[in-house]
Amino acid sequence: MKKATIITYGCAMNVNESAKIRKLLENMGYEVIDNIHESDAVFLNTCTVREGAATQIYGKLGELKHIKETKKENMIIGVTGCFAQEQGEELANKFKQIDIVMGNQNIGKIPQAIEDIESGNFKHVIFTGDEDELPPRIDADFGDKVVASIPITYGCNNFCTYCIVPYVRGRERSVPLEQVVSEAKEYLLEKGYKEILLLGQNVNSYGNDFDNGDNFAKLLTELCKIEGEFIIRFISPHPRDFTDEVIEVIANNPKIARSIHLPLQSGSNETLKAMNRGYTKDEYIALAMKIKNKIPDVSLTTDIIVGFPGETEENFLDTLDVVERVKYDSSFMFMYSIRKGTKAADMPNQLDDETKKERLQRLIELQNKISKELSQEYLGKKLRIFVEGPSKKNKDVLSGRTSSNKIVLFEGDKELEGKFVDVEITETKTWTIYGKLV
Ligand code: SAH
Ligand code: SF4
Ligand code: F3S
Repeated sequence: MKKATIITYGCAMNVNESAKIRKLLENMGYEVIDNIHESDAVFLNTCTVREGAATQIYGKLGELKHIKETKKENMIIGVTGCFAQEQGEELANKFKQIDIVMGNQNIGKIPQAIEDIESGNFKHVIFTGDEDELPPRIDADFGDKVVASIPITYGCNNFCTYCIVPYVRGRERSVPLEQVVSEAKEYLLEKGYKEILLLGQNVNSYGNDFDNGDNFAKLLTELCKIEGEFIIRFISPHPRDFTDEVIEVIANNPKIARSIHLPLQSGSNETLKAMNRGYTKDEYIALAMKIKNKIPDVSLTTDIIVGFPGETEENFLDTLDVVERVKYDSSFMFMYSIRKGTKAADMPNQLDDETKKERLQRLIELQNKISKELSQEYLGKKLRIFVEGPSKKNKDVLSGRTSSNKIVLFEGDKELEGKFVDVEITETKTWTIYGKLV
């Protein structure tokens, strides 16, 4: 049997697309493994959101080149995802060992591309077009049998000035509501997944391109009507477009996760304006507080960029201030990275690496302190959790997740895997909490 490996970089959208590539390859008779040395085909599903992502991909391509030259001369090397979309043909010119370059809208053409390469009719197959189309639905294999993700919008219209995503993912287009609901039913009712992760660069603007009134609140409402016990999560909402209606729907539907990712990016009005984020520090804090008031037990997480062009020490202190006040369970924290073609890349006053590193360090320290404090608040609480299976580090202990996305370790029968159970929290550490069955 032919074997293939898919290596995924970047965000949940790429994880979703890798699951689709996996299914396409399985349908062609490939066994999907996790070992580039034993694979007849290797796909790198790439990201280009920060500079580090590209560097990693070049490293991996070097490794693959060596394998192809020394022992697997017929190995098919494919590059998909946002870096492939961005670089297009140039990538295949730079790295002769690449056979296939597929843009984000074109993964459905992978089987044809593999056949074209195998038949010897083509040296390279490159597709990066159609980026403003709604892609056809492709079945996905998520492997782990817990979380299935569904894109509800593709692309982005926001053009935050630091961000490359709108350039590589095209304009925003929404998937029809009936299609999302029927896909969710298939995953939950037929395939046994317990969690649906809705994906979009700005899920709150879902439906803006429809003229039938369907929007994100309505989509959530319809999904909650599906029978059974399961959890719905979504990433990411944009703070500017978070409506009261959506908050209301979440508050009234326990099936929607009590964890919301609310990207802050910066706490400074000046920086937020330069980033084109469309909200102020006070508006953001007011929204976060409203969410916390209306949805008890909610946990918030966020994305933050430090060292955006022109960011002063005072601007940065505003970011720390928001972190201190909102109290996120955890944060994804990044140093600003120049992306060619974006507005911010041409802004004067780019900061030096030292300043960025130093600010990132201070931010991480503050966040860790808060994460630890919030973790302690779980002590003694009784919570319903979903049992994912044995813990990776200790097979004798089961690992589960709360609706607020906190990992709970506890002792119990392996039979509980895949079920929802109630636990009482008996011990807490920064990232993991411990409990016992009740
Ligand atoms: N659409 C999502 C995020 C997409 S990118 C949203 O708006 O929430 C994921 C995160 O990468 C962003 O939230 C941002 O924090 C970070 N990011 C994007 N471009 C970046 C850049 N040029 N430098 C550093 N971080 C960046
Ligand atoms: Fe990038 Fe902003 Fe769009 Fe998110 S909302 S993908 S940060 S442009
Ligand atoms: Fe990266 Fe593309 Fe996602 S640039 S973060 S893989 S949308």
